[in-house]
Amino acid sequence: MPQPAPALGARRRRRAIALRASGISQETKQMWDDLKHHAARIEGRSLAGLFDAPSRAEDFSVSALGMLFDYSKTQIDEPIRDALVALAETADVAARRDAMFAGEKINETEGRAVLHTALRNLDGTPVVVDGADVMPEVLATLDRMTALAETLRASHVRDVVNIGIGGSDLGPAMAVRALAPFHDGPRCHFVSNVDGADIADTLRLCDPAHTVFIVASKTFTTIETMTNARTAKAWLASEGIADEGKFIALSSNLEKAAAFGIPAERVFGFEDWVGGRYSVWGPIGLSLMLAIGPEGFRAFLRGAQAMDTHFRTAPWRENMPVMLALVGIWHNQGLGHATRAVLPYDNRLARLPAYLQQLEMESNGKGVSMDGQDLTVASGPVVWGEPGTNGQHAFYQLIHQGTRVVPCEFMVAAQGHEPELAHHHHLLVANCLAQAEALMRGRTLDEARAKVAGQFEGAELERQARHRVFPGNRPSTTLVYPRLDPETLGKIIALYEHRVFVEGVILDINSYDQWGVELGKELATALGPMVTQDQPADGKDGSTQQLLRFVHRNAT
Ligand code: F6P
Repeated sequence: MPQPAPALGARRRRRAIALRASGISQETKQMWDDLKHHAARIEGRSLAGLFDAPSRAEDFSVSALGMLFDYSKTQIDEPIRDALVALAETADVAARRDAMFAGEKINETEGRAVLHTALRNLDGTPVVVDGADVMPEVLATLDRMTALAETLRASHVRDVVNIGIGGSDLGPAMAVRALAPFHDGPRCHFVSNVDGADIADTLRLCDPAHTVFIVASKTFTTIETMTNARTAKAWLASEGIADEGKFIALSSNLEKAAAFGIPAERVFGFEDWVGGRYSVWGPIGLSLMLAIGPEGFRAFLRGAQAMDTHFRTAPWRENMPVMLALVGIWHNQGLGHATRAVLPYDNRLARLPAYLQQLEMESNGKGVSMDGQDLTVASGPVVWGEPGTNGQHAFYQLIHQGTRVVPCEFMVAAQGHEPELAHHHHLLVANCLAQAEALMRGRTLDEARAKVAGQFEGAELERQARHRVFPGNRPSTTLVYPRLDPETLGKIIALYEHRVFVEGVILDINSYDQWGVELGKELATALGPMVTQDQPADGKDGSTQQLLRFVHRNAT
């Protein structure tokens, strides 16, 4: 990695001053207005018609790192792409990106650097924070993780239970599931929910003599995680098994981990410049390393590192994360589609939508700009999804014929992992491509009439035909990759991380704090004694009181 870039330029400072003075600079306002004009210009235009230009598909795709991102089935044309790129330039995405990689404290509300990229900087090129190179410590921790993983993988341990929530759960849970064909270590389980059902169901699968617990928590104070960790301790005790060697801690809070009774050699620390939802690349990824082995884990890091280099060096129009972000901005802030479906035609990516929900919604679900002003454009979209083809038999009805447009992000591997089941994979790919085509093409009333002409007549034919019309013109993108292996997964996750970053910069959001999770936690703490009836609920609103009364009446 290069040395830290100089402090953010004069241009950004001027922009910040302009923002403070007027809420939003004239230049930026003009850019957003331009986007709206483009939205009005293309209204009603046939998406399929764009392919009359023979090179439409190639012109509106990005190939990088062996993957293809095709956004040609959107309304983005040359002038719209220019407008989007201009937005990225006005927002100084390049300067912000360089500041992030250089370890500047771009997480301004928490006064922290944002350096998950250092965790996959396998070459160890210096990255300086507060005057000190962080890389020796990062690589030493990776070596310690490797040593422990090798020991545990060669031991009698059969089950590993990762206890964590949010970023301390979703990343490794998603990746462990995604890379099942590469598992050659202990079975990994993930307990996140404070609902006792989660840990109870998991412990039933484990033999206490052959189980190890990983307590994964950046803060080591998260109520769900600490409650589950204490329950795991009590379970071992109830089974007559000593704690010794049974717990590993992954945390930034070394004191709290020690206070829980985990010896220092089993504690893997990371710095506050690793955000929870960006932490799978370091100690929080230990369960993944146990499952696929240290080499596989390094391949995962290598993939992400390759995406980092691509993000830092490729021109905007050939830059996959930047173009993915600009497509997102176009659909959400440009066209007003406040939702985004992530549809992996890859069953092992079943947890990817949940992972991306945290990554995108916790990062860009903010109402104020960096300077504390109200946002003048919409914040990040609602992200959701399910693997194909399952979703087709559930919610695609709405995507095809509902009155709201849901931009869809498909992804699919060229190759599956089951050569003996190649015909399954062919069907999977065909379905993925068919859905994108169906969304774009739709079905006209005439085509629908032709479909039912033999079955109905007159007014009934007309009525039946109308039910079979698909409006079409619905946008989607498709990411194709050769095969889901550790390196490819690393590339895909880093792609989405940088996408979130670029969208956040364009929206002038701090993508690295999460103040919006605080209030509910505070209220839950206060409600605890009311649930147990140790305190009256007098001060609460009528609805909360009524709900508590019902719980109290029905709890025994
Ligand atoms: O409540 C939200 C959050 O702080 C997430 O940002 C984080 O990933 C999760 O809780 C878990 O936090 P920790 O790793 O500190 O237990």
